Amino acid sequence: MRPLTKLISKTASLAAVALFSLNLSAAPIEIKFSHVVADNTPKGKMAKKFKTLVEERLPGKVEVKVFPNSQLFGDNKVLEAMLLGDVQLAAPSLSKFQKYTKSLQVFDLPFLFEDMNAVEKFQNGPEGQKLLSSLEKKGLVGLGYLHNGMKQLSSSQPLKVPADAKGLKFRIMTSDVLAAQFEAIKANPVKKPFSEVFTLLQTRAIDGQENSWSNIYSKKFFEVQDYITESNHGVLDYLVVTSKEFWMTLPDDIRPVVKQSLAEAISYGNKIAGDKALSDKQAIIDSGRSKVLSLTDAERKQWVNAMKPVWKEFEGEIGKDIIKAAEQSNQ
Ligand code: LMR
Repeated sequence: MRPLTKLISKTASLAAVALFSLNLSAAPIEIKFSHVVADNTPKGKMAKKFKTLVEERLPGKVEVKVFPNSQLFGDNKVLEAMLLGDVQLAAPSLSKFQKYTKSLQVFDLPFLFEDMNAVEKFQNGPEGQKLLSSLEKKGLVGLGYLHNGMKQLSSSQPLKVPADAKGLKFRIMTSDVLAAQFEAIKANPVKKPFSEVFTLLQTRAIDGQENSWSNIYSKKFFEVQDYITESNHGVLDYLVVTSKEFWMTLPDDIRPVVKQSLAEAISYGNKIAGDKALSDKQAIIDSGRSKVLSLTDAERKQWVNAMKPVWKEFEGEIGKDIIKAAEQSNQ
């Protein structure tokens, strides 16, 4: 080999080695996704789907670590942790944002949405979409709504009319609207993290709780509650959220792929949520561990009449126009 050719070839191979090691040393961007429910739930499945999609599309560039079952953070801590950069993605229930915005409290108003179609219609409409950015001043970015389903009431006593709940203790999420909802039926609300609910019920420290079929089933609440009233009195949905700082510092060739993968994972989660609610409800009935009670129209009316005054109480904080838009989504 002539000296010049030799030099060129040596330089080229050195450059190749340098490039190779540069590539090796560039650690993937880590996205920790922390949530509180089991893997076999709409949120658990959505998180796994997101991991699969994004890692397939950005091999070696992005790594997603999913932490279910409050393993990393409980929902009451996760948003603080996110602002500190200790976690990058979460999907807390819409009832857990009141420290950051009051307008999302609309989702907690009892008997506002008749079913999940109405919830979806409101979320996809202009008011619902505006609410996605209601956290931006606090450094958080709402990336999309994720469904779980309508809430049911579980208890150690049969609950057919509001008077049956008088004096009973119910665990609630950290929401003043939910506290007011139980106070309206003269029950005692207790704000507690999701991870503590099973033990609180098992030890009879509390009498009941409200949750979706999927959570009652996957966390085995039905094994320690004698009755579940199919009340469909409210909604349990999520906001998929990240921090503004993390989101804005994602490289320009990475952010759109992460965003698209999230959108697809959310739409997958939303698609399976309805079937999951039905099959988990059926599994509870089949277990025979908890008796599922349904309400007559007249009984249901009593719950509506007792709880609906809560709307007025929070109208100022939430905004009349938002409540009206939500109500109209039932049509
Ligand atoms: C609860 O705390 O009851 C729920 O928010 C849990 C969840 O994330 O579904």
